[in-house]
Amino acid sequence: MDKEIINWKELLYPYEQTVEELMLKFNYIKKEYLRLGLYSPIESVEGRVKSAASIIEKVSRKNIQREKIEEEIEDIAGIRLICQFVEDIPKIIDIIRQRDGHDIEIVEERDYIANKKESGYRSYHIIIKYGLNTAFGYRQVLAEIQIRTLAMNFWAVTEHELNYKYSGNLPDDLKARLKACAEASFNLDKEMSTIREELMQAEKMSELKSSLVDNILENIQNLYFKLHMDEADNINRRFIDLYEDGDINKLKDFNEQLNIVAEMYRV
Ligand code: GTP
Ligand code: MG
Repeated sequence: MDKEIINWKELLYPYEQTVEELMLKFNYIKKEYLRLGLYSPIESVEGRVKSAASIIEKVSRKNIQREKIEEEIEDIAGIRLICQFVEDIPKIIDIIRQRDGHDIEIVEERDYIANKKESGYRSYHIIIKYGLNTAFGYRQVLAEIQIRTLAMNFWAVTEHELNYKYSGNLPDDLKARLKACAEASFNLDKEMSTIREELMQAEKMSELKSSLVDNILENIQNLYFKLHMDEADNINRRFIDLYEDGDINKLKDFNEQLNIVAEMYRV
């Protein structure tokens, strides 16, 4: 038995950096979608470094040699990508696969959605090697990315907390109830998928409306320099009426007419 004391701070430091960098990168992916006015498959990003206590627990549970901790424990750095809909999951997986061989190297994928666990747990896991540039050179660090819907996350977080409370020995009736909850969460994801189409449609409409309004306002603003004040005022008033009316098709027509007027005045 190895009695050597582990310098936890030193061991965990690169993992902290890994979690921070990965969270930043995935948050930027979300930002990129939003900046383009697009729906982001990533709803939120979470991350944590495994505590020394739970590393020690895993080391003894899995009989891992101390000098092999960094090779054998894949989730010292853990990232969670949470999405609204099951349909977002393959999109997120694609985003990660595209980076394979760049800053990320995929080691293994575990599909606990197609093959849910006995407990009822569902999630898609990707184990990666992440390239870290440190003061002392380049190195790769293992990390685990968990991809799951809000519903899957709700279940997993709750089950995890309960397991913690019961030190991993859940009474059978509680286990059964959790399984029923997992079933309910699966059904919720299915129900939400049917609503998704409608939501996407609604989002598209509101994006269309906002880009129409942007374009109209820009044209009107420019026309104030080219037209008589009264004429520009008139156009502006017509726009306000149409906007309040809320009919997107009328707004579209108005935008097209305004584009022609603007073209005439080369604004
Ligand atoms: P550990 O479960 O961490 O010992 O790792 P493993 O080698 O068995 O890998 P696995 O892919 O089974 O689990 C990795 C991680 O997934 C865990 O650390 C948890 O975060 C999560 N996980 C797996 N199974 C469950 C489960 O039944 N309930 C919950 N809440 N989380 C789970
Ligand atoms: Mg496990």
